[in-house]
Amino acid sequence: MKYYTVLILLFTLPVMAVQWEALPTTPPIPTTNPQTEAKIELGKTLFFDPRISRTGTISCNSCHNILLGGDDGRSVSIADGKLGKRNTPTIWNSAFISALFWDGKANSFEEHAKYSLVDSTKMDMVNWQSVIDRLQAIPGYRTMFVASFTNGKITVNNIAKAIATYERTLITPNSPYDRYVIGDKKALTEQQIIGMKLFAKIGCSSCHSKPNFSGPQLLGEGWLKKFPKIIGSDYDTQYNLLADTGRYQFTNRESDKHLWRVPTLRNITLTAPYFHNGSVATLTEAVLIMAKTQLEIELTPNQVQNIVAFLNSLTGEFPEQTMPSLPKVLGISVLTNDIYGNK
Ligand code: HEC
Ligand code: HEC
Repeated sequence: MKYYTVLILLFTLPVMAVQWEALPTTPPIPTTNPQTEAKIELGKTLFFDPRISRTGTISCNSCHNILLGGDDGRSVSIADGKLGKRNTPTIWNSAFISALFWDGKANSFEEHAKYSLVDSTKMDMVNWQSVIDRLQAIPGYRTMFVASFTNGKITVNNIAKAIATYERTLITPNSPYDRYVIGDKKALTEQQIIGMKLFAKIGCSSCHSKPNFSGPQLLGEGWLKKFPKIIGSDYDTQYNLLADTGRYQFTNRESDKHLWRVPTLRNITLTAPYFHNGSVATLTEAVLIMAKTQLEIELTPNQVQNIVAFLNSLTGEFPEQTMPSLPKVLGISVLTNDIYGNK
């Protein structure tokens, strides 16, 4: 072998080792909750309905604005004047994520939706029964549950299942990156291709892998990594990276301190600010931090620009959303004199 062949091999091997995959147009669907048109429509209606929040003013879409990037653009979420603890993640493509929540606490949309309804920093309903009572008082919902489920009942499990089917439709395929991977070599700019190779070469893809850049789907376990992996950089204090101990908060296992699920990088340019505490305002800074804290690499400004250019190519096509018409109640508000209205 000529020496330059060896050199080329050495340079391309780490890049070739990465398997670039386009985003599938359908996500994994659990057999216990198949997608049906009626259920998706019901889920979407619930997703946009503020009446399933305590104050009657917040819907899932208030924070996960799917007309934008599926988040709220805030560092941490806010509901009814109360600040949440963490940044709102996008729900676009979260059907592909390895575990839900920053700390990987929830394994499925079905499990997660139930908790959002009664979380005091989210929908803040007093309990699940209060959600059921409100929906029961709306005739249009009774009809939709009958059309969606064989038992036809308004139960918290059915509410969660319906919302989950809608969430599984929120996929953004056909980004420039996807088109490049399936063979359209003109889909990426030269700079983006350089950034893509660098992303693989320095090891970003060891964590942000698979079509969603969030690692393999390991239901029940999640694809969780330490952040910061290398503790001690100036960023720890500058961005308060160590205040929230992540998964440790609910397992109390020492080894789970600062363990976080690997988030998607799809549509990442639309979901600033960044990280679990939303403390980092720009994507450029987020990339610098990742290189330093996860890989112990100082990137040059040029290298950062190339990686950011590549990340730009991960913005996909957003399927057009039409607003549902919420089922009405005539002559009375379901919130009037509601015993759940004041907590
Ligand atoms: C007040 C803002 C707010 C509201 C309202 C809200 N969420 Fe969230 N959502 C968040 C925050 C913040 C997180 C991350 C929490 C964490 O990791 O600790 C989150 C996480 C999620 C996730 C996990 C995404 C991921 O990538 O891990 C899903 C799915 C989700 N919410 C769906 C919903 C649904 C469905 C509703 C309505 C029933 C809802 N949310 C209402 C703020 C909100
Ligand atoms: C060792 C695993 C690992 C490596 C390597 C890694 N990341 Fe990350 N990345 C994570 C984790 C975990 C998070 C979530 C951190 C948190 O909870 O705030 C994250 C978050 C991010 C975010 C912010 C996402 C958001 O929605 O706020 C970006 C952007 C990012 N990574 C890009 C990169 C880039 C670019 C590289 C290579 C320079 C890289 N990552 C290398 C594990 C890793």
